Amino acid sequence: MTIKIGIIGAGKIVRVRHLPEIQMNSHAEVTAICDVVEARAKELAQEYGSKAYLDYRQMLLDPNIDAVIVAATNTTHAEMTIAALQAGKHVLCEKPMATNLQDAQNMLDAAKSSGKQLMIGQNQRLEPAHIKAREIIQAGKLGKVLSFTTIFGHPVCEY
Ligand SMILES: NC(=O)c1ccc[n+]([C@@H]2O[C@H](COP(=O)([O-])OP(=O)(O)OC[C@H]3O[C@@H](n4cnc5c(N)ncnc54)[C@H](O)[C@@H]3O)[C@@H](O)[C@H]2O)c1
Repeated sequence: MTIKIGIIGAGKIVRVRHLPEIQMNSHAEVTAICDVVEARAKELAQEYGSKAYLDYRQMLLDPNIDAVIVAATNTTHAEMTIAALQAGKHVLCEKPMATNLQDAQNMLDAAKSSGKQLMIGQNQRLEPAHIKAREIIQAGKLGKVLSFTTIFGHPVCEY
């Protein structure tokens, strides 16, 4: 089975991570890319053999999409995610989930009533170093943490 994906936002993270990684997955294919900047949508759509859209609401009418990646500006995440769920698409929304608690709750409600999957791209929570730090803090080994400085590095893929 192949999941057909439509992407909203043809910016940095989509260019360097989502698109190359979907291309490596034999169970997924990008069928549509939307951006308000026409040149970005068209360039990536051409490169990945998909359809370009300038208006995400138009894209959501496309029956050739099973799931949507929301990767546009943070303030648009809730509106786009809810619209995609209501259009019958599964959603992977980039972090941050939303910019206020009410929007986040509305997204969860929309997922529940649509019966579709909603996933937030909180991949950092699965990083072993972050899981370990959480464990140490929760065990109280450091006492009450008032502030912290952190440096996080990871290998960057060349695309
Ligand atoms: N860049 C990263 O390393 C990174 C990492 C984790 C999460 N994210 C998240 O991914 C999202 C995108 O980040 P980015 O760095 O790719 O930003 P970006 O600014 O490079 O790209 C965002 C794109 O969304 C488009 N856009 C804005 N409003 C739109 C609309 N209404 N309809 C269609 N397209 C619209 C913009 O034109 C732009 O091309 C953000 O929510 C960010 O927090 C980014």
